[in-house]
Amino acid sequence: MDKLIITGGRRLDGTLRISGAKNSALPILAGTLLAEDTVTLSGVPHLRDVTTMIGLLSAMGADIVVDEKMRVQVSSSALDQLEAPYELVKTMRASFVVFGPLLARHGRARVSLPGGCAIGARPVDQHLKGLEALGATISVEDGYVNGEVSGRLRGSDFEFDLVTVGGTQNLLMAATLAQGTTRLRNCACEPEIVDLGNFFIAMGAKIKGLGTPNIEVEGVERLSGCSYEIMPDRVETGTYLIAAAASRGRVKLVRTDPQALIAVIDKLIESGAEIRCGEDWIELDMHGKRPKAVDIDTAPYPGFPTDMQAQYLAMNAVAEGSSTVTETIFENRFMHVQELSRLGAKIDLLGPSQVNVHGVSRLTGAPVMATDLRASFSLVVAALVAQGETRIDRIYHIDRGYETIEEKLRQLGADVRRVSG
Ligand code: UD1
Repeated sequence: MDKLIITGGRRLDGTLRISGAKNSALPILAGTLLAEDTVTLSGVPHLRDVTTMIGLLSAMGADIVVDEKMRVQVSSSALDQLEAPYELVKTMRASFVVFGPLLARHGRARVSLPGGCAIGARPVDQHLKGLEALGATISVEDGYVNGEVSGRLRGSDFEFDLVTVGGTQNLLMAATLAQGTTRLRNCACEPEIVDLGNFFIAMGAKIKGLGTPNIEVEGVERLSGCSYEIMPDRVETGTYLIAAAASRGRVKLVRTDPQALIAVIDKLIESGAEIRCGEDWIELDMHGKRPKAVDIDTAPYPGFPTDMQAQYLAMNAVAEGSSTVTETIFENRFMHVQELSRLGAKIDLLGPSQVNVHGVSRLTGAPVMATDLRASFSLVVAALVAQGETRIDRIYHIDRGYETIEEKLRQLGADVRRVSG
């Protein structure tokens, strides 16, 4: 199993190009199941989760060609397996978003329940309730969700009980091919939803209200092929901004979208960073200063993203002062706290969803273990500023979501290497 070995203490300094967004690429790849002709995607990040989704689409019978620039061509005109097996869904919950498109286009789907997950129970009840509202018959049997619809799904009004990104995506996909108009209320407003909707619009879908809680979809009979470029990864962008700030360094990130990161940029400014932005770049400079502790409350977009909570918490661990970090999206998303403590961080759990972080002036390298995707990067942030060597085990979690991590960190001057075994 690969490990990352990081010797901390260097200020990050340099320029990086941001990869395409994982959380946009995954639903968009699933969305290709709706197209009758070939779809060509560019800006697809080379990540383990993307490979998993491509593997799932191939297993269903889609014809997929990936070139050396990670341009992905998908033709799903001849699917023969309308099923997503447990082996694939258990490694990546996002596989569940194939359910909506399969039902909408083929009238039938069988997808494994994602089951428990390291960061909470994460049910899919809202996805299923919404698809039932569109006329699907759903049953759960032997750990699989079976869906059926006679003829086309029917446009309908549906209000989510809570804001769910995956649920909004599944319903948006299903509604594009439904008969009549679907009005979705209390939708997630995440930029990745807007990207997915714009992708469907490029295929001929009729969608209004993307990026707002109220989305209206007028169903069409068919969606054609198109070429589409995946948006830049805002979580990767925010993560490198935080890593640079924690190291008291400087970084310029290009091919990114500052507009999608306002909540994170505001917090970084509060912590003492100087930030400059252009249309598709962001530059952060700490001028060598130690960051100041800042309180964080995660919230659905446009609030502070849960996917950057762990990284920011790691920065607060070496900041000047104390801070409170509150997680409101997922239960059990503080597993990094224990590992960060191994490096000398002083963090008190106030409850299952809140911690108090007392910034220390120095962390010390130690062996630690990655627990989930974003939590693992918090260990990288801490290792970059710790004195001595940190060995991070189980980095397959990081490879799910961060493209060429050691090359990118080295480009910023970090002392990092990957070892196997
Ligand atoms: C997506 C992102 C993930 C991010 C999360 C929240 C992808 C591939 N993943 O995950 O990185 O952390 O959004 O921004 O895009 N819930 C229910 N019932 C449902 C669906 C969700 O109770 O039917 C709950 C979940 O347990 C969770 C909360 O709603 O507590 C938010 O989940 P959701 O927005 O659906 O997250 P994902 O789409 O899984």
